[in-house]
Amino acid sequence: MLRQALLLLHLLAAMAWVGGMFFAYFCLRPSAAEVLEPPKRLLLWLATLERFLRYMSLAVLVVVVTGISMLLSVGFQAAPIGWHVMFAVGLVMAAVYAYIHGSLLPRFRVHCGSSTWPAAAEVLNAIRRLVALNLALGVVAVIAAVSGR
Ligand code: HEM
Repeated sequence: MLRQALLLLHLLAAMAWVGGMFFAYFCLRPSAAEVLEPPKRLLLWLATLERFLRYMSLAVLVVVVTGISMLLSVGFQAAPIGWHVMFAVGLVMAAVYAYIHGSLLPRFRVHCGSSTWPAAAEVLNAIRRLVALNLALGVVAVIAAVSGR
């Protein structure tokens, strides 16, 4: 029962995290580039990322805490290799997320606040690349999870 609850929370949080990155990368990014000029587009991204990354601080915490609880209840020795891979990939994803939220977002906010659009666009591009990385790692984590069955 507890394990089911942990797995449910784990999956809901991972879906929000990976699904949110998919939406941002493949749907919002091309649409915003098509419809909006740079200042408006960058301000849309700032407002979007402020909200998304705030929600994700909870989702990332839930993925890591529930994942580690489930792993420890079985034990590192007995855990299938796929779970070890998921653990390692999940920690890298959490570190990338923390760097985006803790370092790149504040820089992006400052550049948008001072209307230095080329510098803001550069930071947004760095965020985009790291989101692509985390999206790819998210897929690897899901493959690792399923292969651990
Ligand atoms: C600290 C990082 C993580 C740890 C320690 C961890 C650990 C675990 C464990 C132990 C299970 C097995 C639960 C069970 O079958 O009873 C599980 C399931 C799962 N995890 Fe993770 N996980 C982590 C991160 C992630 C991430 C980042 C994702 C995806 C983005 C993910 C996706 C999944 C999925 C889809 C399952 C369900 C697998 C299945 O039922 O076949 N996990 N996780």
